Amino acid sequence: MDSKQNRPAESASTLTTASGSPVADNQNSITAGPRGPVLLQDFHLIEKLQHFNRERIPERVVHAKGSGAYGTFTVTHDISQYTKARLFSSIGKQTETFLRFSTVGGERGSADTERDPRGFALRFYTEQGNWDLVGNNTPMFFIKDGIKFPDFIHTQKRDPHSNLKSPTMMWDFWSKAPESLHQVTMLFSDRGTPDGYRHMDGFGSHTFSLINEAGERVWVKWHLKTQQGIKNLLPADAVRLGGEDPDYAQRDLFDAIQRGDFPKWNVYIQVMREDEAQAWDERTGWNPFDLTKVWPHKDFPRIPVGVLELNRNPENYFEEVEQVALSPANIVPGLGFSPDRMLQARLFGYHDAQLYRVGTNHQQLPVNRPRCPVNHQQRDGAMAASGFGRQQNYATVESAGVANSGFGNGDAGWALEGTTGRFDGRGQEDDYSQAGNLFRLLPADEKDRLTSNIAGAMRSVPDEIKQRQLAHFDKADPAYGAAVRAKLNNK
Ligand code: HEM
Repeated sequence: MDSKQNRPAESASTLTTASGSPVADNQNSITAGPRGPVLLQDFHLIEKLQHFNRERIPERVVHAKGSGAYGTFTVTHDISQYTKARLFSSIGKQTETFLRFSTVGGERGSADTERDPRGFALRFYTEQGNWDLVGNNTPMFFIKDGIKFPDFIHTQKRDPHSNLKSPTMMWDFWSKAPESLHQVTMLFSDRGTPDGYRHMDGFGSHTFSLINEAGERVWVKWHLKTQQGIKNLLPADAVRLGGEDPDYAQRDLFDAIQRGDFPKWNVYIQVMREDEAQAWDERTGWNPFDLTKVWPHKDFPRIPVGVLELNRNPENYFEEVEQVALSPANIVPGLGFSPDRMLQARLFGYHDAQLYRVGTNHQQLPVNRPRCPVNHQQRDGAMAASGFGRQQNYATVESAGVANSGFGNGDAGWALEGTTGRFDGRGQEDDYSQAGNLFRLLPADEKDRLTSNIAGAMRSVPDEIKQRQLAHFDKADPAYGAAVRAKLNNK
């Protein structure tokens, strides 16, 4: 059955209240006589109206519009020299997954085809707990410090006065944050309007770590290459579809899985040894933990790891896709974080958002429940359904931690240096070369669309902002600046 058809209701023999008692009549409220008012004793009516009033939970503050599916990750290559994580322990090993795709800036009802990065948030239900790789379809990001994230996102949302999206807010922010240029270039390229979710790549984006049995760490970036091939929408088609079929990507994904055409991605890692990191930083001027930068493949080739296949649609969109609570803080032994400032901010942000958006016990919902035993002393709170029963609700010193199952057991930490402070790298860090490299990599027709897309988006913006932004394009590549300038002048 495809998404165009209505699903038949499961035929439950008797309609009941949520408490299970049979409902006598679901069409006529109890009234005082045939013409009289409704009686308070009609609990079925009251319950129905009350529950209806509470059907919505807050939408995600970002990435509100999304689609999700379950799948399987299969290991095809041995990376146990880098990580002891058990999901990678043998070739052929399979792990259940859930992947939620999304757009970033729009509301829950916004069009799937808007120019925006796409979220690519992948959960692995491993035997050691949930690992969430909460990435995007781009290997870099607009900013490098989480302290700027709320401001940046506000510029992608609505103007507080007009309640309209505002190109002025967007370009004002970007023009004062030149580190955004690399991602801005990708956003306004063809990749800013992917043709659904199946025809795009995914990236963990940040630098993470892998830790092996000996406790040795390497730095790693995760890449997922689509087996369906990259396909993007031309700008005019993206706009047209936004009106004709705002749920274009949801439909494409759902229908493909329903008909058994399971999308697949090849999973790769790039690996940087700890001692290489410093040398690479000194040679290139690029901080390996700066999320606005990529690691070029020629320096750090992709190493194959496995294949991800999406093969099962959720049964209930709200319960599974809306309530899924994915967080970069969810990792398992053998995986680790890095000094990336953005990542550090995200490690706090997601669980906190989900405590508010879904609730105190969001990890107990079926889509969020790990597929392995859970053992802790967090108790009670709204909607507790942990199944802990009479299990002890406190930890003693002796019982604190279970040998070899926690983080940091035998894992090397990373070295720190310097004094605490707020360090402003503006003017000292190279925010232009990689943006320029991306521009130079594009074939002529893509360059043309990129600069037309940018000029179109900047047209209504005050001149002062245009000039500031044009100076950034010039620094990335004089041809980049010249093309945007010419198109802006040629109204
Ligand atoms: C969703 C915060 C940067 C990818 C979210 C949510 C928050 C958030 C609060 C909503 C979570 C929820 O309600 O479940 C932040 C902060 C960031 C940041 C504070 C910077 C410091 C990033 C970056 C990426 C990213 C760099 C990609 C590399 C995503 C994705 C989702 C998301 C894919 C949707 C997850 C889902 O499908 O449920 N972010 N974010 N975010 N973020 Fe971020």
